[in-house]
Amino acid sequence: MPGLVIIGALGRMGQALQEAALAAGQPVVGLVDRPEFFGAPSPVAGVSVCCTSDWREVVQSGRVAIDFSSPASTIALLKGASVHKTALVIGTTGMGKDGEEAVREAAKFVPVVFAANYSVGVNLLLELVEKAAAVLNAHQFDAEIVEAHHKHKKDAPSGTALMLANALAKGREVNLQEVACWGREGLTGERPEGQIGIHAVRGGDVVGDHTVSFLGEGERVMISHLATSRRTFAEGAVRAAIWAATQPPGLYTMRHVLGFD
Ligand SMILES: NC(=O)c1ccc[n+]([C@@H]2O[C@H](COP(=O)([O-])OP(=O)(O)OC[C@H]3O[C@@H](n4cnc5c(N)ncnc54)[C@H](OP(=O)(O)O)[C@@H]3O)[C@@H](O)[C@H]2O)c1
Repeated sequence: MPGLVIIGALGRMGQALQEAALAAGQPVVGLVDRPEFFGAPSPVAGVSVCCTSDWREVVQSGRVAIDFSSPASTIALLKGASVHKTALVIGTTGMGKDGEEAVREAAKFVPVVFAANYSVGVNLLLELVEKAAAVLNAHQFDAEIVEAHHKHKKDAPSGTALMLANALAKGREVNLQEVACWGREGLTGERPEGQIGIHAVRGGDVVGDHTVSFLGEGERVMISHLATSRRTFAEGAVRAAIWAATQPPGLYTMRHVLGFD
């Protein structure tokens, strides 16, 4: 059993990850969060390690680090992969191009599972959306994605919405950047054919809702996923960590972990 290190440990996902690790019987051997929490005990009963502020103290070969923190922190961890040689499960979203490059580089040295969503349902949704896009595009259906998240979320659109947009583009065999419309305002004119709209709603305590709508003449097809608990992401990430511990260096997604490929 790999010892798990949780980065962003005192955050919403960090606490859910500790609970999921305990439930799965996986030992939590390190917790990392911001300096102001140095030495803080875990709020999760049954986790006995205290928080440190420097991942270098606890991220080491033979362990698996699960990181749901912030883009800057996660990119630093990824850039250290050639030295720490520790399997990584990355959940942080909003890392942009620098993050994607850091993920690819780290995967040369260690196994990296990288997913903007660790739930089984969303990973199935990705498959369904790609297939639906391929079929319905031939019948001139327009495609729009609407996501909703809690008011504390720092990035938009969600990483999951981006994955869904990429699945739509793949199904249609188009380049997402050439057809994406990131929200609308003003005199936008008529909707161009082939456009993929992506829209973000923020408020309250929404864990994560995603709906992909295919809008045709006289009918609509809508595929939705509603997450009601962070536990689903946490359980998926712990499952990914157990799986990653036995993999060679490389870049993996939740589809590999779930055996979809
Ligand atoms: N892949 C998935 O399935 C999935 C699911 C849910 C969320 N997420 C993503 O996971 C990330 C965390 O989400 P969350 O809702 O748990 O956020 P959160 O509650 O803000 O938790 C993030 C934690 O990481 C800490 N942190 C930030 N920068 C750090 C650093 N440099 N060093 C150490 N700790 C640091 C934060 O401290 P401060 O509060 O002081 O900043 C906070 O305690 C986000 O990017 C979110 O989009 C992914």
